[in-house]
Amino acid sequence: MSRGIFISMEGPDGSGKSTQIALLKEYLEGEGYDVLITREPGGNRISEAIREIILNKDYEEMSPVTEMMLYASARAQLIAQVVGPAIDSGKAVISDRFIDSSLVYQGMARGLGVETVLNVNKVAIGDYMPDVTFMLDLPAEVGIARKKDQKELDRMERESLEFHKKVAEGYRTLAGSFPDRIKTVDATLPIDEICGMIRSSVKALLDR
Ligand code: TYD
Repeated sequence: MSRGIFISMEGPDGSGKSTQIALLKEYLEGEGYDVLITREPGGNRISEAIREIILNKDYEEMSPVTEMMLYASARAQLIAQVVGPAIDSGKAVISDRFIDSSLVYQGMARGLGVETVLNVNKVAIGDYMPDVTFMLDLPAEVGIARKKDQKELDRMERESLEFHKKVAEGYRTLAGSFPDRIKTVDATLPIDEICGMIRSSVKALLDR
């Protein structure tokens, strides 16, 4: 059985990842793939339970290191139980957020350092790095305004605008550090244009 493919979708809160994930799923199914969509933190019952703790808006006192470890724990379980077996059996996996969220939110915006967060996460994910990552680039103000319209904000979304600006800027820096893997897409463009760019990039990956 040949190895499947692993795609992650990243970007600030409210950047439109879910819409693009649904469209990418359609495309990959058309290409004959069995597609699995998952999200982080979450995607199985243990990681969903960890998610409840991380995003609970009452836990304002959570330390940045605890936060990093909890995200990494949720990720380790997702790899062990869901993503790893799916990729090993030839499926296409699309994850709504993955390791880059930790590198940016905990490593850069919280200030723990990208190296530290990367090392902790290597333990969690082993060899399962995404083949390609799409970063939906959006000004922080726009993303948070979209979220506010949709639902009650969670612990991360309630962070200051300054924090969310660091996230948006952090993603741009990270994309510059991993130009082969991370593809930046302007999330203010119309949905079908974004979808077209993502498809052509995935097609290039499949043709390789
Ligand atoms: P979620 O509601 O899934 O956000 P979104 O709909 O914007 O994807 O909440 C996940 C939150 O957790 C989001 O604010 C980003 C943050 N996060 C981290 O800080 N580190 C991580 O490693 C991950 C996966 C998410």
